[in-house]
Amino acid sequence: MRSFIIIGHKAATEPFSLNDLPGSAGRMDILCRCVNAALFLSHDLRRDVRVYLILKGDPDPPKIIRFDGADVRYLSPDERSAASLIRKALGKKVQDFWTESMPGVSIRRGDLGNLLGELGSKVTCLREDGVDIRSEGFKGISMEPLFVLGDHLGLTEDEEKTIKGYEHEIVSVGPVSLHADHCIVLLHNEMDRTAHGQGNIFRTQHIMRAR
Ligand SMILES: C[S@@+](CC[C@H](N)C(=O)[O-])C[C@H]1O[C@@H](n2cnc3c(N)ncnc32)[C@H](O)[C@@H]1O
Repeated sequence: MRSFIIIGHKAATEPFSLNDLPGSAGRMDILCRCVNAALFLSHDLRRDVRVYLILKGDPDPPKIIRFDGADVRYLSPDERSAASLIRKALGKKVQDFWTESMPGVSIRRGDLGNLLGELGSKVTCLREDGVDIRSEGFKGISMEPLFVLGDHLGLTEDEEKTIKGYEHEIVSVGPVSLHADHCIVLLHNEMDRTAHGQGNIFRTQHIMRAR
């Protein structure tokens, strides 16, 4: 299982207009792109992925939406589609436990601390100044990783403090600051190449072609 937590500091916590995701919905467009990057393959879904969106905007924060790749239905690879499932979840009564709003989409009341406590996994925090995942010293991404990424505002001091309360590492995917969804694609790629040994296959083919 690969899990991604993305924090939406301004993301709306009540049903919002699908016509204004970047504005009145509080940069919900960023979170929707993260859902797509985490879950979609070409013509398929990554069934072994869970995405957690922490919504911290007005009027009723914090809330967490979970997309579970194993069960999700009615999701297509466009921002509006993910947004409409989030919107539907926000229409549900929110409690301190998960309530399913649509297949594979659930909502609960909670913040980063509640979620990390529930998941109880080592946290891999994505930050531009972290240890490069391609550096020699990096031990490699774990088999059941739990990544935390920020939105356009990054992570707050409080969130970083919460993460430090758990076993954690701070990693970078490269030398420049990227959008969170682009980081997710790069992380998947690193894991895909390791998990399936495809790095070796591609390298081998490349060498064969060069001969
Ligand atoms: C658009 S960036 C945040 C930029 C924000 N202005 C800041 O200063 O933190 C969104 C998120 O993507 C992740 N990120 C962006 N570039 C990264 C990199 N090179 N390595 C690791 N994580 C990165 C971080 O989690 C960051 O919070």
